[in-house]
Amino acid sequence: MLHDIVISPSILAADFARLGAEVADVAPAVEWVHVDVMDGHYVPNITLGNPVVASLRAATDLVLDLHLMITDPATYAPQLVERGADSITFHPEVTDDPRALVDRLHEMGARVGVAIKPDHPLSSVVELVPHVDLVLVMTVEPGFGGQSFRADVLPKLVEAAEFRDEHDLSFRLEVDGGIDPETAVAVARAGADTLVAGSAVFGHDDRTAAVGAIRAAAQRGRGVEGGG
Ligand code: DX5
Ligand code: ZN
Repeated sequence: MLHDIVISPSILAADFARLGAEVADVAPAVEWVHVDVMDGHYVPNITLGNPVVASLRAATDLVLDLHLMITDPATYAPQLVERGADSITFHPEVTDDPRALVDRLHEMGARVGVAIKPDHPLSSVVELVPHVDLVLVMTVEPGFGGQSFRADVLPKLVEAAEFRDEHDLSFRLEVDGGIDPETAVAVARAGADTLVAGSAVFGHDDRTAAVGAIRAAAQRGRGVEGGG
């Protein structure tokens, strides 16, 4: 199944002192905005939590695409949905019963994703995959923006796309880390349909043009010329 390409700018690369204006600046060009929640334990970095998500919810109608890099998603994910998150993607290896969390978040009306670190195989999450709306294949080690894309992850993307087809599933296949107009071609060719980009969007003055360049590259990777 082929989803439309979605670009999800990561606010990790935005100016946090003027977050509402930064999100408004990308809003005409995108459907989603990616919100990285880090707790200083799962990853060696701290970003934001409930109050900022509530403020973002009040400030934008974009899909709030949350990426939880935290050791206790079972406690905090429901709170973040209550604050207005539309989609919650978590790293499942740190929680005792990830399937129960998926079900709970679905009951609350959220979309749910499962994230895989670069060195973890698809097989480590395969039992969850039929139950989620999104699979996030990390293309850098989680924790920081501005890292180099890991091309060694591409076979896992192909594997996930094939798994989706073979099992007649419809999850979105998201990539996150080092995505720019060059790497977007390769990930879209491998099957990604949802592209997170931090530096490659917020690092440019003209965000609409920056998003357009990534979108066009992804369409090229799919073999659709001039799209977006
Ligand atoms: C990294 C985060 C990413 C990050 C991507 O742990 O999950 O979302 O913001 O940043 P870039 O696009 O700059 O690699
Ligand atoms: Zn992220």
